[in-house]
Amino acid sequence: MTCTIIVGGNFGDEGKGKIVSHVAHQDCPTIITRGGVGPNAGHTVMVGEKKFGVRMCPSGFVYPDARLMIGTGVLVDPRVLKQEIDVLGVKGRIFLDNRCAIIEESHIQEDKTNTHLSKKVGSTGTGCGPANRDRAMRVAKLARDIPELNEYLVDVPREVNTALDKGENVVIEGTQGFGISLYFGSYPYVTSKDTCAAQMAADNGVGPTRVDDVIVVFKAFPTRVGEGPFSTEMTSKLAHEIGIQEFGTVTGRERRIGNWDSEMARYAAMVNGCTQAAITGIDHVDPTCFGATEFSQLSKTAKDFLKQAEEDIGAPITLISTGPELSQIIDIRAEYE
Ligand code: GTP
Ligand code: IMP
Ligand code: MG
Repeated sequence: MTCTIIVGGNFGDEGKGKIVSHVAHQDCPTIITRGGVGPNAGHTVMVGEKKFGVRMCPSGFVYPDARLMIGTGVLVDPRVLKQEIDVLGVKGRIFLDNRCAIIEESHIQEDKTNTHLSKKVGSTGTGCGPANRDRAMRVAKLARDIPELNEYLVDVPREVNTALDKGENVVIEGTQGFGISLYFGSYPYVTSKDTCAAQMAADNGVGPTRVDDVIVVFKAFPTRVGEGPFSTEMTSKLAHEIGIQEFGTVTGRERRIGNWDSEMARYAAMVNGCTQAAITGIDHVDPTCFGATEFSQLSKTAKDFLKQAEEDIGAPITLISTGPELSQIIDIRAEYE
């Protein structure tokens, strides 16, 4: 029985979606459940030629044998959710907690027009900040108040804890990243909630004593979208020269690119209680590593980078992503069991 939490160690978009999907295929969880803020997240999952961008459904949906859940703490936009359920064909195996708070059209309008949110913070305009405010004010609607959601409602903490009691594997999927945590990030340029492992457990009603593994996902070249400090940022010209250009899954904004940040990695690993780390984008450190599936296929440049990163993080790097596609990964978790 393992309860594994997967979270981001940079500013979001580390490639958690891909790591979750891989871990799900390897560990065969009976439940993959989401924590995090809400539909401001955009997880990309690439299987073969097919590319999916999900905002509400857990990105582990590509593993067909798990039930998919959205934890109590997560904000739900019913329109986004229903559209994803249709497009991904996950009806019958997706559920949400009856107490999830609801994003309404008015929240989205406010997020897009409020100057502080849209201009200063650079929010995603998905209504999350205003909806979390209304939840704190205790005026937000909950999922149980929305008749169209009735068929999907469950008690997520009960489902997850029961699965763990039965000795089943559960994956808790985080969204966003350490640097945009409301508590630990670069306030006020942050999202409307904490983004660390403890929050992901709390979002799903899982107590700290039940968590076995915290996998923190770092990006070899971290990215940031929206406003706020980014100490290792490089110019977009330089980023393009080394072959990196990324656009946000939700907003389409160009992501700012930076170099590896040792200090941030160490601090994020500490606050998350990192037991293992995943590094994505090793193919950007050395393009000859693209698609590698064995550690021995990595170049000296890549291995040197990983050695330094591991020292910074203070926990073993057990997952190394070598490209965007699901199968492009080196998984050495078994060596550390
Ligand atoms: P949030 O929950 O929004 O923080 O997103 P996320 O962590 O799931 O990441 P997202 O999918 O938004 O961004 C990661 C991007 O990197 C996607 O375009 C992935 O397809 C891509 N990606 C993931 N792993 C790798 C990798 O190892 N190499 C390369 N080149 N791209 C990768
Ligand atoms: P909000 O969460 O929409 O209020 O946005 C607040 C800040 O967090 C902005 O800088 C966003 O760009 C950033 N942000 C929110 N969600 C994500 C995400 O999933 N990935 C990356 N950045 C995010
Ligand atoms: Mg994203």
